[in-house]
Parts: sequence; structure tokens; C-alpha cells
Amino acid sequence: MRTEQPKTIYLKDYQAPEYLIDETHLTFELFEDHTLVHAQLVMRRNPERVAATGVALPPLVLDGQQLELLSVSLDDVALAPADYVLTDSHLTLQPKAERFVVDSSVRIHPESNTALEGLYKSGGMFCTQCEAEGFRKITYYLDRPDVMSKFTTTLSGEQLKYPVLLSNGNLIASGAEEGGRHWATWEDPFKKPAYLFALVAGDLWCVEDAFTTMSGREVTLRIYVEPENIDKCQHAMDSLKKAMKWDEEVYGREYDLDIFMIVAVNDFNMGAMENKGLNIFNSSCVLARAETATDAAHQRVEGVVAHEYFHNWSGNRVTCRDWFQLSLKEGFTVFRDAEFSADMNSRTVKRIEDVAFLRTNQFAEDAGPMAHPVRPDSFIEISNFYTLTVYEKGAEVLRMIHTLLGAETFRKGSDLYFERHDGQAVTCDDFVKAMEDASGLDLTQFKRWYIQAGTPRLAVSESYDAAAKTYSLTFRQSCPPTPGQKDKQPFVIPVELGLLDGQGRELPLRLQDEEAATGGNRVLSVTEAEQTFTFVDIAEKPLPSLLRGFSAPVRLSFPYDRDQLMFLMQHDTDGFNRWEAGQQLSVQVLQELIGQYQRGEALALDQRLVAALRTVLENEALDQAMVAEMLSLPSEAYLTEISEVADVDAIHAAREFARRQLASALFEPLWKRYQANREQSRQTTYVAEAGHFARRSLQNIALSYLMLSERPEVLAACLEQYDACDNMTERLTALAVLVNSPFAEERAKALAAFAEHFKDNPLVMDQWFSVQAASTQPGGLERVRALMEHPAFNLKNPNKVRALIGAFAGQNLVNFHNADGSGYRFLADIVITLNGFNPQIASRQLAPLTRWRKYDASRQTLMKAELERILASGELSSDVYEVVSKSLA
Ligand code: TRP
Ligand code: ZN
Repeated sequence: MRTEQPKTIYLKDYQAPEYLIDETHLTFELFEDHTLVHAQLVMRRNPERVAATGVALPPLVLDGQQLELLSVSLDDVALAPADYVLTDSHLTLQPKAERFVVDSSVRIHPESNTALEGLYKSGGMFCTQCEAEGFRKITYYLDRPDVMSKFTTTLSGEQLKYPVLLSNGNLIASGAEEGGRHWATWEDPFKKPAYLFALVAGDLWCVEDAFTTMSGREVTLRIYVEPENIDKCQHAMDSLKKAMKWDEEVYGREYDLDIFMIVAVNDFNMGAMENKGLNIFNSSCVLARAETATDAAHQRVEGVVAHEYFHNWSGNRVTCRDWFQLSLKEGFTVFRDAEFSADMNSRTVKRIEDVAFLRTNQFAEDAGPMAHPVRPDSFIEISNFYTLTVYEKGAEVLRMIHTLLGAETFRKGSDLYFERHDGQAVTCDDFVKAMEDASGLDLTQFKRWYIQAGTPRLAVSESYDAAAKTYSLTFRQSCPPTPGQKDKQPFVIPVELGLLDGQGRELPLRLQDEEAATGGNRVLSVTEAEQTFTFVDIAEKPLPSLLRGFSAPVRLSFPYDRDQLMFLMQHDTDGFNRWEAGQQLSVQVLQELIGQYQRGEALALDQRLVAALRTVLENEALDQAMVAEMLSLPSEAYLTEISEVADVDAIHAAREFARRQLASALFEPLWKRYQANREQSRQTTYVAEAGHFARRSLQNIALSYLMLSERPEVLAACLEQYDACDNMTERLTALAVLVNSPFAEERAKALAAFAEHFKDNPLVMDQWFSVQAASTQPGGLERVRALMEHPAFNLKNPNKVRALIGAFAGQNLVNFHNADGSGYRFLADIVITLNGFNPQIASRQLAPLTRWRKYDASRQTLMKAELERILASGELSSDVYEVVSKSLA
């Protein structure tokens, strides 16, 4: 056995595979202490490669890791060790003909697989996770997405322990074996890459439903869960049916198999996986009912169920040629699920949430050491590239194409893409080409969004000529350097805008060389480093409403003063920009407080923010979810992201000061709206629907402000809500508010009661851990350490790691960034431990330490020292090695 070092893979080195696998026949024999996998691969030379490499047959290099090879044969002739080369990552054979069959048998150990990649056990069940390169931990194979094969899978196991045996496609045969075992054979009629393979065996129950497709075919829908969760599947099932219908209506895409299955598992590295016909989900993204899941969790279930379902076309029927093209399926599918959620709930609120998330987290990634383009050009470990950039910025790129083409032309483009590439493994260029061909637009320059990393800055200035009645906007774009990319070319930046008059009405928009005005809202394409647009017939100096709906993922700046922002908050015809104006006003006010704190001055809140939020709060005609969004001050993480050097303590002090001031100045209207909404909540049973989400979101943010008053009537209300509500949204907010309050006795009582009541529900206990991990009360690290000893905590379970460690390092900034470095040391220790059994999770938990350049010199030193310590800690996975080494570079 030779050991191969982790090395950098480059997009420019891509070559089509030398061999193809037409058919894949798999047999799994599942036992408690090992599993036997037999694979029969019906192969042939790739005709495409003959021209390139000549007629001589190149060696066949199969991927395989952590496999114990028991036997291998070529066209039924058993091979001796001298006939092949075996390393810890490959099995190399020499084919003797253009067409041949490889048979191999391996032994693997799912029962001790803690990395949760390949075949593993979660609780008592077997399941798989093959994306991106997990299939090679199951059998020797060409584990790359451009090798697509027809799979037949037989699995066998103990009847009593594993009554349910599933794989992709249709069940074609099953039966009993001697010794209490049984078997099932599944056949997937669609060719697919190995990363979409899935297998499940367990003692599962399912809820079943049906969906009739637009062409009249009946599809069986099943959600499989552990028996105790059978009462938590209805919301996911409803979401699935809505998603199937939406994809037919909006994209003309119909489901293609006779059965669609979802399986919920408790141990899962990510949210969910779109395996063909057999999606495997983190239970947190399936299970939801009023008593145990919050509104946010219900919306996440709806979004993730839709996301994985949508992959059946954007990902499975048309897949990626190589992993550099990941955003081809992920960016597109996130865009699709975001539009679905916008259609199911409140469009503006969904956009606000997504933009706040993008600007806080993806912008930080794009400004950090792991910055990479939407289509990366190199990686060491592909698992590290399932990033906010590939997913969320990738979705923004799709949104911009949609904006530039318009909905109708975009649909022509997607139809063309699906038709042209059905059954193929393609590139981002192929996608853009379909959009170009459908629209007649040249998207050459636009494609820089795929190639250049970093968040562009877009500085806008105005000039008004009263005599000529012209109003000009000048746009200057620039993009900071990112690792490996110094100079950037200008992007195509779609800027949706309107110009408002003194009454807040949209002015008709006519550019200098245009015949007539075309409405009050339009999209300008900014394509140059500096570019001016001049509007004519503008009788008074307008106030611009820029980048409406966040039409491009850029850092926009325009010299608004606070009065103008207040005006936009009230009058902008674009709901998203009303919120955005409020955020900009808050940022200005908070930055002023941060400065006062740093200079040791007394803090004084600009009363205009109070006035603006009072107006919002008193406007009963506004969507309550919008009121809640507007009342939410920018998070500490966002304030960190937009700081040159983030002063953790000043940011926390300033924001808390502002919250307290707002709470006391606005006590009356907050109390009024809280009571009205809580009363309505008392009168209604829980419904997972936008209007109800809105009511509860306003109620809950009001409660969190009100508690800052520490008044006894608010404490009483909070305890009433905690005890008497019928749903987790109200209960968890009441608990969180208590946890962050000085009422130590009530807090302890509520935490204990909660844990006692929900101790057998791991997803609810995740919430319990998170609420405490995120509490900014002093002593955060000690609390987290103590919680790690709680019987419900388990470092091997990714949800628990995220709930406790992730929430602490990612949301509890004052405690994590304690100046003594204890938070950093703690996280580094955790990463070193996780690296030993789950590299993907280890590498993801590392992210907060990679942001060291954001902090003061002393924190920088401490953070870097911890990264150095991880690097020196011994045998690092390629996952952790890549992130640590790039962060220190
Ligand atoms: N393709 C999955 C999605 O829908 C992502 C995913 C699930 C994944 N599990 C994974 C990626 C494990 C890497 C490793 O977004
Ligand atoms: Zn996805």
C-alpha cells in the first residue's frame, strides 16, 4: 500500500474519463460488524478519449478508500495481486479490450464510520451519503460526476432489525433468506453519477401520499422516519406536494419515477441530499409540528424539501461535469427554492432574510482567506467548497440572469437548458450558453461573476441640473483583491431603481437618448468601471431608491443622510428598500454609538431612530412580519462584517445600549402590540402559514425588547407565554428571553422544565443547547463546557455540535472573542478532536477562526496561534488542512 498526499486539483486539468460504466450492479450484505459489497461494472472505453490518446488501452484507475479488497476479476478471470496496483486511494487495472466487465468484492465497516460519508449507521439504521466523493468509500469505482451509469442494487439484512430495505428507483424484487434475513432489489432506470446513489436499511415507519403529475401519472410519495417521529411528517409531505406542483407550473418540470422517497436520519453532515428517488435528510429538515418545531424550522423544512426535490431536474437529470461546476446545480437550485418560498409565503420577507444572511456570512467568506469564485478553479478537498459562495452567491448570479432576461425569457432559457442537456453532465458555461441562445443576449462579460471572487463595491453619486431638468447617477465599481486574484475586470451589475419625488411618488424614467419614459421602476446595467446615466424631464431633485430587491450582490454606497433614509423607510414603493433604508439608518446610528464607546464618551442614541421605529410600530396597516424585520437591529455579526477592524466589545455595548433605549422609549406601543398578538395566539391553534408567522414574529421581537425593561408585568407575560402557549415558536422565544434576562431563578426553572419535558426529543434539545450557547451573559464558555457534559450532548452528532459549539462561536461574539483567548483555545481543541472522526464537521466549525484579520492585533495573535496549533497537532484531514493552511497563508 502506498499513501498518496492530498494535492491541489485544478479545473484547467480536467479531462474526460478514459472509460465509461454503462451498468452498475451492486450487492450489499449488511451485518453488525461489517458489510460486504460486490460490484459488477459493465464498462467500455470512452470513444471521446480514443481520438486524444490513440488506440492503445490506457490503464483503468478506479477510486477507492478505506476498502478491504477481497477479490477482483476482469471478464470473469480472477486477478492476482501482481495483476493490479493497489494504493490507499486507487485500484489500477489493465483492460485487455474496449469492452469488459469488472467484478470486485470489498469489506467495509459502516458500524464504525464516524465521518458520516459513504455507508454508515445512524442510530440503528444503515444509510449513505455519497456526494461529493463518498461513493469511493463503498466500492472501487470511477467516482466522478461525468461517469453516469444505470444502477441495480440488491441489499440484504436481518429482517427484524432492518424490515425496510431501500435504494434508488423502483423495487423490482424482494424475498426472504434463511437465518432470518431478507433482501430487496431496486433498479433505477435513469443513468446517474455515483454521488446520487443511496441505500437505506432500518426499522422505519412511513407516511404515504400520492401526487398526480401534469401529464396524469400517479406518483407514490413516502416519508420514512423512526417510529416515534411518525407524527411529525405532515408538514414535509405538504411541502413536497407544493414543490412538485410549483416546479410544474413555474418551470414546466414533471417528476419522472413512480415513487419519491424521503428518509430522515439523525446523524447527517449537512441539511439533506438529493439522491435519485431516495432523498436522505437530516431529521432537522423533515420533522416539524407545532409543539416541537419553530416557525423558522417549519420554513426551513419547506425550503429544504423543495430544494432537494428541485434537484431532480437541476442536478440529477442534468448534472455537473466536474465538481468545479457545483454551482451549476446548487446556485440554480437555491434560486429555485428561494423563489418557491417567496411564492408560498411573503416574498419581501424572504428576500430580506436571504439578503441579511448573504451580507453577513457570504460577504465575510468573500473577504476572507477562503474566498473563491462561484466556479472555483482549484481545491484540495471538494467538501470544503459546499460554501455560501457556491450556494448563496451562486443563487444571486442566477437571480441576476433572471433580472436581466425577464421571467419569460429566463423560462425559455431554462427549457432550452433542460432539453438540450437532459441526461448529460455539463458546465456553468453550458448553462449560460442556453440562456444566451434563448435570449439573444451576449453574456460574455456577465460570466465574470462565475470567475472572479470578492464582493464588488458600487459607489453611487448624483448630480441634479435644475435648469436642464436632468438628474445623473454616476456608478463606480471596484472589487478588492482575493487570494490568487489581484486585478478584477468590471462586472455586469443590474441595478434596479426608482426616483422618488417629495411625496414619495415614483417619477417616470426616461434616459437621455430615449424617446419616452418607461414607467417608474427599471433595471440599469452597469458594465463599466465608471458609468453615468442621465435621466431627463426631472422637474425636482429626486431621491433615488437604488438596488431595489438587492438586484446584485454588491456593497452599495450612496451618501444618504438620516432624514432621507427615514423618508425612504416610510415612502419607498419597494418593500425591500424600505427595510434596507431602516437598516442603513440603524447602521449609521450604531456606528456613531460604537465611536462614542471607543472614545470613552457617554452613549447618546440619535432620537430619529426611535421616531422612525415608532412610526413603523404604530402603522397597523403594515405587514406584521415587515414590522418585525424593521424592528430588528443589524446583528453583531453584520456590524462586524462591515467594520474595517471589528471591536467586539464596542459593537456589543452599542447595540445593547440601542436596544435598551428603544425598549424604554417604545415601551407603550411594543406592549400594546405584544398583548394584542399574544391574545390572538391564545385564541388560535397553531398554523404554519405566512400570516401566522408574521403575527408571532412581531409578538416575539416585541417580547424580547420588552423584557429589557425588567418590569414585573413583562416577566409575568413572558412566563405566561412560556407555560400556556401551544407551540415551540412562542415557547422557545420565551425561554430565550428568560435566558438572556437577569431573572436567574425563573431562567433556571424554565430551562430545567424544558429539558425535562423534551429530553427524548433530540431536535428540541438542540434548540435548548443553542439558546444557552448564544446567551451573551458573562461566563459563556463555562456554560458551554458544562453543557458538553449534559447527557443529551454528543460530539459525534453534527446537529449537537452545530447547536452548541457552532452557536457559541458563531453567534455569541462577545463570549467567543473574550480577550483572554479562551474561546479560541476551546474551539481549536474541539476542531482537533473532531478532525479525528469527522473531518467535514471539523473543517466547518473552524470558520470563525479563519476570520482573524478582522480583529485587533492582540486577538489576531491569539487566533493565529490557535490555527498554528491545529496545523501542528498531528495528522490532519485534507478538509482541515486546506482551511487552516489557507487561513495562515
Ligand atoms: N447536495 C446537497 C444539497 O442539496 C449537499 C450535501 C448533502 C452535501 N450532504 C452533503 C455536500 C455532504 C457535501 C457533503 O445541497
Ligand atoms: Zn443542493
